[in-house]
Amino acid sequence: MLKGKTVVVGVCGGIAAYKAVELVSRLKKLGADVHVIMTANAVKFVAPLTFRSICHNPVITDMFEEPKMWDIQHVSLAQKADLIVVAPATANIIGKVAGGIADDMLSTTIMAANSPVLFVPAMNDKMYENPIVQGNINRLASLGYLFMEPDTGLMACGTNGKGRFPSPEAIVDYVKGILSKKSDYEGLRILVTAGPTREPIDPVRYISNHSSGKMGYAVAKAALERGAFVKLVTGPVNITPPSGAEVVCVTSAIDMYNEVMKSYESFDVLVMVAAVADYRCASVSESKIKKSGDRFTVELVKNPDIAAELGKVKGDRVLVGFSAETDNLLENAALKLASKNMDMIVANDVTVEGAGFGVDTNIVKFIKRDGSSIDLPIMSKEDVAHRILDEVLSIGKG
Ligand code: CTP
Repeated sequence: MLKGKTVVVGVCGGIAAYKAVELVSRLKKLGADVHVIMTANAVKFVAPLTFRSICHNPVITDMFEEPKMWDIQHVSLAQKADLIVVAPATANIIGKVAGGIADDMLSTTIMAANSPVLFVPAMNDKMYENPIVQGNINRLASLGYLFMEPDTGLMACGTNGKGRFPSPEAIVDYVKGILSKKSDYEGLRILVTAGPTREPIDPVRYISNHSSGKMGYAVAKAALERGAFVKLVTGPVNITPPSGAEVVCVTSAIDMYNEVMKSYESFDVLVMVAAVADYRCASVSESKIKKSGDRFTVELVKNPDIAAELGKVKGDRVLVGFSAETDNLLENAALKLASKNMDMIVANDVTVEGAGFGVDTNIVKFIKRDGSSIDLPIMSKEDVAHRILDEVLSIGKG
């Protein structure tokens, strides 16, 4: 399963270092060529010999020891690796990499890496929740470094909380997922809209909705991971866009419409995830509207429907839309699919727990142009995004 893959496991100084032994053993059994780099503190918890006996490769503990081969080890391993897994990852290594510090074999290898780097943090729950640690994790995640969430439970220090090393089995599953990532979108161009739009009333007020942008950003990220060129046209949200995408930030539905219509022609796949405001103010006051009587009426006029306009001109591009509903999910979604000439619509009932705005999961149904539908169970927005991309490819080939 992992035959031909080189995995570098970076072991840091934490009590979970002993569990990294099982991780290395499982990776080796799956056929990976495993190399272990231990930090100076890791060596105090587990002997390098333990890892060497399992991975059958020299274990690197010191940047300046006599080299075993005539190459510069941190560079050669960094170049050879298909994946670097830092497990357990301490607050220290996360902080060092986030701060650009490369002062030992592990940090220099990470810094020189071409491959994805997966951190598996394990530490005291208060340390894990510390805003400095969380800030470092967010910074690295925004740069494309991967993180596994620690488990919650009783820890070696006696406290109960989030910070436990996940099971080696779960880490191996994660590693398999990363290493088997497809590049089936290479050469394809995908345009994604995301987030809400804001329709101004006056210089200080606007009409908007609860869209967090998470679903649209997940589609953009998944497409990037699979090799696509991605343009993300996003309304105002509080999340970091995936690195590698061309990101255009817009505010109103008209801005989003103009941005999409100006570039859609060069794209193969159009995924409309944005919760576009259907109406805007008929006139926007240039100065702040002062409070007056007991009632206040705003006149609204219809916004352009971006997905519907694309449906008219899309040619053989694949057009996917979303349908967030509170009632009659399937009927409403099917009507939108037909009226906007979409190839597929992703329908979700936003009143169901675990689906809809703000949360990290979604429960969706896919309805396709030919009338077929697929019901998916609750899953992360990332997994929903990958399933959408799988279906888009099957539509494109059909
Ligand atoms: N959409 C769009 N431009 C609009 C309105 C919607 O591109 N002005 C897209 C959304 O991005 C989504 C799909 O159309 O992919 C359906 O959006 P939704 O708001 O659910 O439907 P509406 O057509 O606006 O209908 P309603 O609000 O009445 O449910």
